[in-house]
Amino acid sequence: MNKEKQPLCYGGYLKLPILLDTQVPESGKHGHEAHDEMLFIITHQAYELWFKQILHELCSILALFSALPLDEKKLHTISARLQRIIKIQHVINQQISILETMTPLDFLDFRDYLIPASGFQSIQFREIELRLGLSHHLSSCTYGRFTDDDKAYLEKVAEQVSLFELLDAWLARTPFLEFQDFSFWDSYGAAVKTMLDNDANIIGNNPLLNASERNQQLQDLEMTRQSFNCLFDESLYQQYKQDGHFKFTHNATLAALFIQLYRDEPLLQLPFKVLNQLMDIDAQLTTWRSNHYLMVQRMLGTKIGTGGSSGHEYLKSTINSKRIYADLFNLSTYLIPRSKLPKLPESLIHSLGFYQERY
Ligand code: HEM
Repeated sequence: MNKEKQPLCYGGYLKLPILLDTQVPESGKHGHEAHDEMLFIITHQAYELWFKQILHELCSILALFSALPLDEKKLHTISARLQRIIKIQHVINQQISILETMTPLDFLDFRDYLIPASGFQSIQFREIELRLGLSHHLSSCTYGRFTDDDKAYLEKVAEQVSLFELLDAWLARTPFLEFQDFSFWDSYGAAVKTMLDNDANIIGNNPLLNASERNQQLQDLEMTRQSFNCLFDESLYQQYKQDGHFKFTHNATLAALFIQLYRDEPLLQLPFKVLNQLMDIDAQLTTWRSNHYLMVQRMLGTKIGTGGSSGHEYLKSTINSKRIYADLFNLSTYLIPRSKLPKLPESLIHSLGFYQERY
């Protein structure tokens, strides 16, 4: 062992002297140190540290998911790391409530010193969005606020494959949709038709409905039928996709639906878990946007943001427009009761199971 080498110590390992020297309130520089600015800085720094960890997990997931063919054993690691991201999101979503112990008046003690800096410019937050699969959001409005280096970095990230794209390609490669002489979609289409015809009968014979209510319900049912038709008619699906109703490719949507419907089959349990985890990540991100929006409204009312946006109104618009995995949520439209699901042929059920050799 090298005699010169000092034994590792806690503060040295964690670089605490550097880390704990990075909280520098702007208000202090102007001679009016605002007590709450320390909380504001530390909260943001804690977020950025967790963002770094999320990116660490996300980049490793992207590397594992990029392998062709995907090693099924790696799917467990991918799922475990997705779960870690979800847990971190739970923690950072809670952190907003700590910052909310600062009142709007306390915030005003230092807010103006922050102009034109803004959370808008969080490169790590944008990178997380891009790597998860949010596209086309580097609009000129947002873009103007980054330095040229940051812009160049984000453009490079945007060119790389995202988790959404890898998921889409993986789903689209899913076997089992056509199996020997069994076409799942023919059987499923017939089951859907029976279900919807049955609904039409119920509406037609419901004595509690007047003529106009019955008409309305039948029209709604027709819309549902149209929506199901997207699954069976690829060109109709493409039209809906162009109108923004879907982000997945047609094959990926079909595969995701198959996984949802038959998730009890052993081979589909892990893919089902991964799909659910991606929905959790999307839900947590949406929860963050919503909580952040409410906090900003509480702090600023209708004032504009320090980054120059319309403030809470801008943030409100992002809650729905920046969903990444909404397609997975919308799949519920196409679920049919287990009792009405087509029974899979024995040979296919066997292929979807795990079997031990008997001795
Ligand atoms: C008093 C607390 C806060 C206020 C008043 C506030 C205010 C705002 C406002 C007004 C915007 C819109 C852009 C602008 O015009 O500046 C924004 C964006 C943003 N803020 Fe905050 N914020 C606060 C806390 C936080 C915290 C703790 C984080 C954690 C990292 C954060 C991260 C972000 C991010 C990432 C954006 C960009 C969102 C997007 O474009 O979708 N903010 N914030």
